[in-house]
Amino acid sequence: MTNSIPMSERETVLQVKGLKKHFPVHRGVLSRVVGQVYAVDGVSFTIRQGETLCLVGESGCGKSTVAKTVMRLLEPTAGTIEVNGVDISDLSESKLRAHRRQMQIVFQDPYSSLNPRLSAGAIVSEPLTNFDLATGAALAERIAELFERVGLRPEAAAKYPHEFSGGQRQRLGIARALAVNPSLIVADEPVSALDVSVQAQVLNLLIDLQEDLGLAYLFVSHDLGVVEHIGHRIAVMYLGRIVETADNADLFGTPLHPYTEALLAAAPLPDPTIKRERLILQGDVPSPVRPPPGCHFHTRCPYAVDRCRSETPPLAEVAPDHWVACHLRPVGGPFGPLSRTI
Ligand SMILES: Nc1ncnc2c1ncn2[C@@H]1O[C@H](COP(=O)(O)OP(=O)(O)OP(=O)(O)O)[C@@H](O)[C@H]1O
Ligand SMILES: [Mg+2]
Repeated sequence: MTNSIPMSERETVLQVKGLKKHFPVHRGVLSRVVGQVYAVDGVSFTIRQGETLCLVGESGCGKSTVAKTVMRLLEPTAGTIEVNGVDISDLSESKLRAHRRQMQIVFQDPYSSLNPRLSAGAIVSEPLTNFDLATGAALAERIAELFERVGLRPEAAAKYPHEFSGGQRQRLGIARALAVNPSLIVADEPVSALDVSVQAQVLNLLIDLQEDLGLAYLFVSHDLGVVEHIGHRIAVMYLGRIVETADNADLFGTPLHPYTEALLAAAPLPDPTIKRERLILQGDVPSPVRPPPGCHFHTRCPYAVDRCRSETPPLAEVAPDHWVACHLRPVGGPFGPLSRTI
């Protein structure tokens, strides 16, 4: 549908600016607030019609918190979330309702995210009934159409979630999300719980749906193989911040942030005969309760210099549409290998 329009000219579906989500840390019998978990600490990105933005990063870097905050399942601490031009970041629950239709979420675990007591047909009809979108024969017809759209037989509507395989359950979750004709789907690790053989089928279904319906996807994953398969743009997160964002080919072809370089080096290569210099990450991810000053990554970065320990690098456009938060990557390059300081 939207394939012929260049990405940069398409309508913006989601624009997130300066998003923060801090969770209070309580201690003691009086449950006093003794600190904050800086789970998401100033994240900005844009997703256009028909575009997939993948958020990638190690466990605990804040990916799911971004996904849930964008959906307003969590209240943002700061920042704006514009969905089709409307800032929903501080809308009241009643005003938010009208906008909920435009954004739907698909969760990682198709086992726990579907109500086991409802039939598959009832699961998909729930959002249609909630938003008064269809009743009677039109409802039955819409459900059959949605089942077919996601590769399930319409007869499956009478079955219960436990009668489906993992892949089929995830198809059901996708049908439920599609029911209300959203323009944005937020998918948090939607294939991570599935067998590898089933993962590709579900990813390809998401890609087909996007091509046909012009959907925008915010796709959260820690799996670089999945991200490379589905992402138009990739944003790499580290301790609550985006450290690099670029088109798929640029990010995988020319990673410029030392953390991205390390992530790619740690991922298995499809061709084991290819040798790649391994940049092994030193130490653990620091706690988001006390993120390191300056560049959050400096404690594990083999290239860190004094400035990295005190000054936060801004996310800067160092090459066309390739944004990096690193003092060692000046705008315009050069972009050769960095020199190690340890
Ligand atoms: N409700 C909460 N209260 C306090 N801290 C939280 C809460 N939810 C998440 N966190 C913390 O926020 C940080 C980010 O968590 P988040 O779940 O967003 O990470 P993630 O990138 O999705 O990780 P994973 O890959 O393991 O799913 C973690 O340190 C986590 O412990
Ligand atoms: Mg998560």
